[in-house]
Amino acid sequence: TLAPDQSADIAAEASATIRPGSLELAIILPTLNERDNLAPLIDRIERALGPQGWEVLVVDDNSADGTAEEARRLSLADPRVRVLHRIGRRGLASAAIEGFCATAAPYAAVMDADHQHDPALLRDMLAAVKSGEAEVAVASRFAEGASTAEWGRPDRVKLSGIANRLARRLTGVELSDPMSGYFLLPTAIARDLVPRLSGIGFKILLDLLATSDRPLKVRDFPMNFSARRAGESKLDRAIAFDFLAGLYDKSFGRVIPTRFALFCTVGAIGILVHFAVFYAVMLAAGSSFGWSQAIATFCAMTFNFWLNNWLTYRDKRLVEPRAIFWGWLGFIAACSVGAFANVAVATTLFDGGVLAVPAALAGIAIGSVWNYALSSRFVWGR
Ligand code: GDD
Ligand code: MN
Repeated sequence: TLAPDQSADIAAEASATIRPGSLELAIILPTLNERDNLAPLIDRIERALGPQGWEVLVVDDNSADGTAEEARRLSLADPRVRVLHRIGRRGLASAAIEGFCATAAPYAAVMDADHQHDPALLRDMLAAVKSGEAEVAVASRFAEGASTAEWGRPDRVKLSGIANRLARRLTGVELSDPMSGYFLLPTAIARDLVPRLSGIGFKILLDLLATSDRPLKVRDFPMNFSARRAGESKLDRAIAFDFLAGLYDKSFGRVIPTRFALFCTVGAIGILVHFAVFYAVMLAAGSSFGWSQAIATFCAMTFNFWLNNWLTYRDKRLVEPRAIFWGWLGFIAACSVGAFANVAVATTLFDGGVLAVPAALAGIAIGSVWNYALSSRFVWGR
């Protein structure tokens, strides 16, 4: 792919940072529908790092566009390319985590596969971490000298305000871009933190920094955040939500897991929806109690499915119409099992002499756990 003399030049330059003949750096590329971006990105990585000392680890979540096949095809021709094809698991943070655990390289970088992150920064980032100048090198969209193709000033101001203060509280580290998806660190540091990472919603870099018992030494590298090369973005910009989830996770996450807490919050809002619809249908439209109850239940379940898909399982969100349809059906089935468990437990307790309200609450608690367990596994688990 590169002319021989051209790659010799790069090799000579790069050998200052990358020792020839040994694997030093794993570049973890989480992918979801990035087939056409892979080959050109690997070329750019080679141009930045020279011919050896690195590997690319494509962590693909069973993309519909055949990204995993493309990665295997590239790997057959080039053993520096490795593939982790995940079926039945999803999420950007967990893809990075599995990448850390699947490489022997002493240093690991995580970057987007859509060319928004410039591989040319890798060499300086690696040099800074290798020399011990920093433990984590972060490519920042907001450091002095950075630029973004997509974002205007308002985002910048918003980000450097509340978000940065929250990030500092969480991590004890000053970061200009706590939500960056492009960073490099010694793999062992990441791996040691893995058992305690929350791995959901809130961003992997922030998660690593906040989970570490001591503040890690961070250095920012200004980057030019380009426009995506092909395909479309899978994430939204609800970063405020990531921060809240992160704050919760670090404060109470060990008592009640963040995702379960979110699921229950959504459920509580669903109860309000249920009663609103129930009264509207029964009083305004004059329907029977049974009809009103049925319509309210249907609306509340659909609402809960939508809100859970949007918030609770934001990192595993179902987006394709077919996936949404089957997910919605699965959610209704899961709720039915939950409702059955709820009634069974409440009735048994009530018959055994427990007062009505505690019996009902116990039923709701057991039913919610069932709903959660089933829908985590069968609706958003694949
Ligand atoms: N394996 C896997 N699983 N990869 C995923 C998933 C997933 O569920 N979702 C997204 N990806 C991959 C994409 O294919 C891409 O390579 C990378 O993760 C980032 O996804 P994008 O969809 O391009 O994200 P973005 O450009 O909107 O967001 C970027 O900016 C955010 C800050 O606003 C990313 O760099 C984020 O990491 C960053 O937090
Ligand atoms: Mn992107």
